[in-house]
Amino acid sequence: MAAPTQESTKHHVSPSDATTFVQSVLEGNGVSKEHSAIVAKCLVAADLRGVDTHGINRIPSYMARIRQGVLDAKAQPTLTETTPVIGQVDAHNSFGFVAAHMGMQKACEMARVYGIGMVSVKHSNHFGMSAWLVQQALDEGMMSLVFTNSSPALPVWGGKEKLMGVSPLACGAPGGEKPPFILDMAPSVAARGKIYKALRRGEKIPGDWALDAEGKQTDDPAEALKGVMLPMGGPKGSALSVMMDVFSGVLSGSAFAGHVTNPYDPSKPADVGHFLIALKPDLFMSMDEFKERMDYLYQRVVSCDKMAGVDRIYFPGEIEQIAEQTRKSDGIPYVDAEIKALNGEADKVGAEHIRVMSGR
Ligand SMILES: NC(=O)c1ccc[n+]([C@@H]2O[C@H](COP(=O)([O-])OP(=O)(O)OC[C@H]3O[C@@H](n4cnc5c(N)ncnc54)[C@H](O)[C@@H]3O)[C@@H](O)[C@H]2O)c1
Repeated sequence: MAAPTQESTKHHVSPSDATTFVQSVLEGNGVSKEHSAIVAKCLVAADLRGVDTHGINRIPSYMARIRQGVLDAKAQPTLTETTPVIGQVDAHNSFGFVAAHMGMQKACEMARVYGIGMVSVKHSNHFGMSAWLVQQALDEGMMSLVFTNSSPALPVWGGKEKLMGVSPLACGAPGGEKPPFILDMAPSVAARGKIYKALRRGEKIPGDWALDAEGKQTDDPAEALKGVMLPMGGPKGSALSVMMDVFSGVLSGSAFAGHVTNPYDPSKPADVGHFLIALKPDLFMSMDEFKERMDYLYQRVVSCDKMAGVDRIYFPGEIEQIAEQTRKSDGIPYVDAEIKALNGEADKVGAEHIRVMSGR
């Protein structure tokens, strides 16, 4: 019998134990209780939704940034209201999660009164999976647009050097009886986090995700990280990444045009920018009518005639919601190497090791 691979050896952790673990490591690194709770919730939300690339496995790289002094564990973001519907958060190099959370909270507050709220965030850090911000707005009954820029990973169309970020574009709208609409996508064929995850897990990647340093297609994640990510849809994907830089970087006053620092590079602050909009859905009709229309759209999408080989059609965000239901009851699966790296972080600050579910 073949030896089990890292992929087949999974340790399941309950969402509440994952949250407690992350909070204690963060607090051990000087992050306040309030901020630790926000960061832990967002990271565990990613793991629950099956977005393992942006979950608690990011902890070692974030803690390295704190230890190196390029992410300020104690910084408190500040907010300035520019007009009744426009605000700006200066993250002061705090966690992107904390600054963006504050920004979306303000955008929703503005939208509740004026119909729309827009908040720009500067001098921030990586905020992981954008969908947690869409969910934050949905929890307030709001539609949203969530943009961020990120470190160079993608060439512009026709170029060969890394210049633009694999910067995700996300948006959402509430449904009625049916699931909400949640689109959260990087403008590359795949998020770069999927390459880091494959590297962590000793797996290969599909050949059409990235080019190596010589410009050749590769299925080796280590070689892919030396090269460039491929944009989705050719020039259209690279144009979307420029769009994320215009709205998140140029407009906010943060780094742009290839000057955001990679979250795995602990040599200098990241200076990421974000752009957040919350919109009240019942601006032009009652909320009930809006939700009925969303449910009708859902029904039309998922029940359309399927192409050969397709069993089921999903609404954007639905696959992740299904993963969330399963993982809430079965726990979140991590491989040995991930558990070891997380416990290594706990050891550095004298926190307890992550609790793995027994009998799994
Ligand atoms: N903060 C950052 O700098 C950064 C950078 C890159 C990516 N990310 C995050 O990485 C994550 C993954 O990005 P991605 O582009 O690889 O996502 P993805 O390709 O897995 O999914 C993109 C979108 O397509 C939808 N989708 C996927 N398969 C579907 C199907 N079969 N039917 C219907 N809809 C489907 C998903 O619901 C999602 O909304 C995102 O959460 C993103 O925010 C973050």
